[in-house]
Amino acid sequence: MAIERTLSIIKPDATENNNVGGILQLIEKSGLRIVAMRRMHLTKAQAGGFYEVHKERPFFGELVDFMTRSPVVVSVLEGEDAVAKYREVMGATDPKKAADGTIRKLFAKDIGENSVHGSDSLENAKREIAFFFAEADLL
Ligand code: CMP
Repeated sequence: MAIERTLSIIKPDATENNNVGGILQLIEKSGLRIVAMRRMHLTKAQAGGFYEVHKERPFFGELVDFMTRSPVVVSVLEGEDAVAKYREVMGATDPKKAADGTIRKLFAKDIGENSVHGSDSLENAKREIAFFFAEADLL
């Protein structure tokens, strides 16, 4: 297995409910290392640009409104097989279908307000990391 990097976003529902520490603890317990991190309040343009692939989906407007409602915490996670491993730690997109012990099972409300985002492929991870961080930020 190769050492990879993936992008994580702790979403507005989680920052509003003070779940940032609990989520970071699950990430670190899984063996993934946080190599960059920033708290920020996304603009509509940033949220829309980040989720551009979902532009035609019926939930796009709702997704942009939600992602700009409160601050988020963006981070880069590094480790063996990091993309797939973080998706395991997050659990299924819909928290009703997420396995016990996963972030979404423990903290998420529903499929829209699902507490975290993680890149779904190595190729997307590269694009998503570059969206928020410069190479010099990754320590
Ligand atoms: P995420 O992994 O960040 O990628 C796209 C996001 O769109 C997803 O998590 C959900 O938050 C959101 N999403 C996906 N499906 C739906 C849906 N049916 N209704 C509302 N939001 C959705």
